[in-house]
Amino acid sequence: MSGDDTAPTIASAVCRNKDDPTKQDTSKDSSPQNNQTTPNDRHNDPYRVQVKSEFLYEERPAILAQPKNNTERKAENDNNDNRSGKNTKNRGQNKKRPRDAKISSNQKACLQVIRGETCPFENCKYNHDLKEMLANRLEDLSEGEKGAEWLRGECPNWKLKGYCPFGLMCRLGSCHINMSTGQNMRRAVEEQEQPPVNEDAAAGNTDDSNGTPKPGTLLTHQHDVKNVISKETIIKLRKNQYPFVCKRHYEVTKQNGKNNPKPNDESFPTEESTNTPALELKERKLIDFRNKVYIAPLTTVGNLPFRRIMKQYGADITCGEMALSHELLQGKPSEWALLKRHPCEDVFGVQIAAGHADQYTRVAELLANEPELEVDFVDFNLGCPIDLVCEKGAGASLMLREKKLRGSLEGVTKVLNCPVTVKMRTGWDEKRNIAHLLVPSIQKWGIDGISAVMIHGRSRLQRYSKLANWDYIAEIAKSQSTDLRQIPVIGNGDIFSYTDYETNVLSRVANADGDDGCSNNLLPTAMLGRGALIKPWLPTEIKERRHWDISASERLDILKDFVRFGLEHWGSDQQGVNHTRRFLLEWISFLHRYVPVGMLEVIPQKMNQRPPNNMCGRSDLETLMLSTNCADWIKISEMLLGPVPDDFAFEPKHKANSYS
Ligand SMILES: Cc1cc2nc3c(=O)[nH]c(=O)nc-3n(C[C@H](O)[C@H](O)[C@H](O)COP(=O)(O)O)c2cc1C
Ligand SMILES: [Zn+2]
Ligand SMILES: [Zn+2]
Repeated sequence: MSGDDTAPTIASAVCRNKDDPTKQDTSKDSSPQNNQTTPNDRHNDPYRVQVKSEFLYEERPAILAQPKNNTERKAENDNNDNRSGKNTKNRGQNKKRPRDAKISSNQKACLQVIRGETCPFENCKYNHDLKEMLANRLEDLSEGEKGAEWLRGECPNWKLKGYCPFGLMCRLGSCHINMSTGQNMRRAVEEQEQPPVNEDAAAGNTDDSNGTPKPGTLLTHQHDVKNVISKETIIKLRKNQYPFVCKRHYEVTKQNGKNNPKPNDESFPTEESTNTPALELKERKLIDFRNKVYIAPLTTVGNLPFRRIMKQYGADITCGEMALSHELLQGKPSEWALLKRHPCEDVFGVQIAAGHADQYTRVAELLANEPELEVDFVDFNLGCPIDLVCEKGAGASLMLREKKLRGSLEGVTKVLNCPVTVKMRTGWDEKRNIAHLLVPSIQKWGIDGISAVMIHGRSRLQRYSKLANWDYIAEIAKSQSTDLRQIPVIGNGDIFSYTDYETNVLSRVANADGDDGCSNNLLPTAMLGRGALIKPWLPTEIKERRHWDISASERLDILKDFVRFGLEHWGSDQQGVNHTRRFLLEWISFLHRYVPVGMLEVIPQKMNQRPPNNMCGRSDLETLMLSTNCADWIKISEMLLGPVPDDFAFEPKHKANSYS
């Protein structure tokens, strides 16, 4: 991504001086050999980021918001000082977070009318009066005194597809609204603007050998998001009419003469009793994870726009956020939305949490049967610590139920042609690690199609305060029998720089004959979680083996891309803007933890190190990006999406953005 300096009027508006010094060293390699300074003994605290003294302020810079009231102060303190992990009740989530005001139906235009059609519904609750809506229309996001000028009135949907489905509700709609009639315009999109993918040509369904499509062939475009489940399927699921082959847990237990089966019932039927006929399987191709950069599934923050950013910065493999099987099976659209895949996600998995084999198998049936669903692998969630999930026998609690896990793996691999992976923790609690027993069990079951096991090197009850146990991860990998096919083990935890990656993975591979060594097949790569959230350019650092002193304006460019992708994905109407802003703020609650390489006394920054509270960057923008105060994060969002309403408030959803 370029450090384009024409658009960022924002950046120059907040920079302390015009010659943002961060711009000079953007491409410079600040490898430890070149740049490392000796640690200052006075501050030799391994849990603190060592920052050069010139970047520590005594007086709060004017660019930063002053914490106004107790709530804001408390939020700031929570972000700074949450290392003790006192708030265990919430299990990493902030409940009762502020929400955006609801947009009423009559504030929304009827989509039929936007399309220029007559609305056929007598009781349609949406607004049909285009003129009235036009008169009350808010100005574009890019207009006005505090407008997000950089967006320059350019609707991303209009630009990409030549048509914006939000019509006059679009907050960047001036470019596609007829301002006298309110009519929504269309434009033909030049082919060079968006190269089409001819699916018929790929399937050999063409008129001639040149690959010219037959007349009337539908061209899907590279921007079209995949894995959008059909409305018909959603309705069938809701009405309980989907023709599943796999019988439900309770149906089978009833047949077996059991009353009121409990969710945690260990006598759960295995694949014989669920009676799922196996599909005719083609040869299953396992995924080669070796030396690939894999971005972990990340609820809320690992959304599709974020994953597009990760692909831009060199991620090879991406995965959807955890989806709950029972919500999928009930046809809940918001849960199915978690499976959406952008065309740039060329190796893509979905992660499913379920407590029963029939739930896993039914989701697998949907993935196998529904033509619009296309995944490269299905990841089993055996790591989610949330009580609500564990109480249903899913998430981390599935680690404790081998029989159920086996039934689930057998059920899914029987109906799906793609491989499966299993993401787990080290165990339930720190004192009783069990992954080194569970992984050899999985290996012995001999189920065809298990491509890898991912280990988050912490137990279910451990918060993020302790470092992930990479020695134990290597031990798990080697706990497998050498007489059977060994399942690759992908470690996960605290990778924050290329040196972390090399220490925890590559050095063990290089030392394959040593005590803690593993072959490249056995330990093919590491998975990136918070490291990717805090430093989205981390895949590039790993591939290019450098500590990148990325400039504040380049980082702002990343956020601009995210906003564009967000408005495409969540919509460019007010609701889409609200969503984009909330997800942007959730992400900033992680991003602010990055301390620029050029400010460090000791390189690289480590994941568990807490930065000092009184840092200023090399420009006002950099200072703002370092702020732990929600009010400053909102300010950044205003640069990108225009002003927030006066009563706007934000609290991050995940506590994992702090140091607990
Ligand atoms: C905000 C957040 C959301 C997460 N969501 C999921 C999830 O949906 N599924 C999952 O298996 N793990 C999830 N995790 C765990 C991560 O995938 C990863 O295992 C963990 O953060 C350890 O890696 P790290 O130290 O690199 O962050 C989440 C972690 C965070 C911080
Ligand atoms: Zn209508
Ligand atoms: Zn638009």
